[in-house]
Amino acid sequence: MCGIIAYTGTQQALPVLLDGLKRLEYRGYDSTGVSLISRKRIKTVKAAGKLNVLESKLDTPVSGHCGIGHTRWATHGAPTDENAHPHYDADHRYAVVHNGIIENVDALKAKLGKKVTYTSETDSEVIAHLLAQHGGDFVDALRDVLLQITGTYGLAVIDKEHPDTIIVARNGSPVILGIKDDEMLAASDMSALSRYTNQVIHLDDGEIAVLKPGHFEVSRLDSTVSEKQAITLNLQNANYDRGGHPHYLYKEIVDQPDTVRQTLSGRLDERFSTAHLGGLNLSARDLIGIKRITILGCGSALYAGMAGANMIETLARIPVNAEPAAEFRYRNPVIEQDSLYIVVSQSGETFDTLAALREVQRKGGFVLGIVNSVGSTIAREVDGGIYMHAGPEVSVASTKAYTSMLTAFSLLALLLGRSRDVSPQKGNSIINELKALPEKISQVLTLETDIAKIANKYKKSASAFFIGRTSGFPVALEGAQKLKEISYIHAEAYPASELKHGPLALVTKKTPCVVILPDDELLLKTVSSMEEIKARGGPVIAVTSSDSKRIDKLADAVLRVPASGTLTQPVLMGIVLQLLAYHSAVSLGRDVDQPRNLAKSVTVE
Ligand code: F6R
Repeated sequence: MCGIIAYTGTQQALPVLLDGLKRLEYRGYDSTGVSLISRKRIKTVKAAGKLNVLESKLDTPVSGHCGIGHTRWATHGAPTDENAHPHYDADHRYAVVHNGIIENVDALKAKLGKKVTYTSETDSEVIAHLLAQHGGDFVDALRDVLLQITGTYGLAVIDKEHPDTIIVARNGSPVILGIKDDEMLAASDMSALSRYTNQVIHLDDGEIAVLKPGHFEVSRLDSTVSEKQAITLNLQNANYDRGGHPHYLYKEIVDQPDTVRQTLSGRLDERFSTAHLGGLNLSARDLIGIKRITILGCGSALYAGMAGANMIETLARIPVNAEPAAEFRYRNPVIEQDSLYIVVSQSGETFDTLAALREVQRKGGFVLGIVNSVGSTIAREVDGGIYMHAGPEVSVASTKAYTSMLTAFSLLALLLGRSRDVSPQKGNSIINELKALPEKISQVLTLETDIAKIANKYKKSASAFFIGRTSGFPVALEGAQKLKEISYIHAEAYPASELKHGPLALVTKKTPCVVILPDDELLLKTVSSMEEIKARGGPVIAVTSSDSKRIDKLADAVLRVPASGTLTQPVLMGIVLQLLAYHSAVSLGRDVDQPRNLAKSVTVE
């Protein structure tokens, strides 16, 4: 989604803002803009398109020590120069960057009256005009304006009458303060701050912060002071560089042996043949009291949740279901005291997942989070959780975070299993399976050349199917998701058993079918589905851990992952599908890291 960066301090603000925008670009990137206070005037430069378009407009840099910047992902109005942020009032006294949606924009415009001329189609512009109409003290004016807004915002505002001051506010869209000696920064995402400081403060909803060089003051909309302490972030894993790789996505795929190692680090308890998960805030008694689990997430996080549901149900014999967070929150769900709710999110900021978490907690349910982004809103609001420690994921399409979600679920399944009927021997064999996982991922990565050839062969296909059964089905869903979002090849996933109930009508020699075949008790049944596809002339790409010769005979291509236990097979097969999507996208010349219409971290409903 959109990104915000703000700076006030001793340095020239423009390079800091542009650097911040570069780091934020992955969140949303159809237009960008900056406003700086320069010689008591606000100078604004904005442009539709990527950051380089803005940079070319800034050939003569704007000087100034205080400014705000924005990358936009269009919601209200097309991506044009006019609709790009910052927005300002008629006199250019105020400039505003805003993430979120103002639901009562029409009512606010009616209040402002007919005399106001709008220069954009956005909802955000109304904030600048409301401030101008209000006038007076900067903080009081903004407080009053925010009290009139219904909707969500993360915003930063400057006022030329206060040339060293920025005010930021949050309601439903993240704002993080970055503290540094005689400077102050704010951003919607840690990525824009981590180069400058590891001292941060996360604003909570309803908070407003006044920033001056080396000074900040946080209060609530009703003017009560919020006592906030800066936290020190461990930036060891905060690597936002491509590391010499052609794309972030590629780097994030090949980094997975390490990122999985990080997720597992310190969490395998060989003494008791279980997992050690310190942040759950659940006692052994709480663990055995869990009667049901509901997992909530969106997109790939949901598919990881579906895989996790299989793992936990198989190992711990607790009924588990995984649901789209956005649907769950609106169906007035029944929340049970003996149920455990788990929200899964890479960013920790996905609006629908956050809303589902709040709905469960409002009804008294206990919620665990499986989250990557340290200090994110979801991470702060859950009752306990597991950090993935996968490091920042920059590419829009999730890869290493998805894999770490599965890894975190394996650990949780082991813990819940051992709190029930799983024997120490079985627990040990799972620990060994997990210990071997990073090395097996490295072996999967050696399949890349074969995978690239297959991607190249089928890249012209208009459509592809992905099928699998039980633990293979979430893998198929995620494989189809990766292919469609980065290569734009239409891809659908089905349980293999469902093929003959409809989709088989679409199978021809032009529709490659990726068949997921974990080496389990359903293997031969999935092989029968392969037969059905072959009988209709459909090309089959088998992804399997089985050495069955029948698979080799039937399939047009076989991608074989190393043999492993049931918990880790989905991880290995998932990585094959990530590489398949990556090479399909590259061979089609797609913008792999920033696929069209999509944005990382969906902070609007
Ligand atoms: C797909 C993808 C999205 C996210 C989804 C949830 O590759 O990245 O489907 O998985 O938007 O995001 P998080 O995990 O940040 O809640």
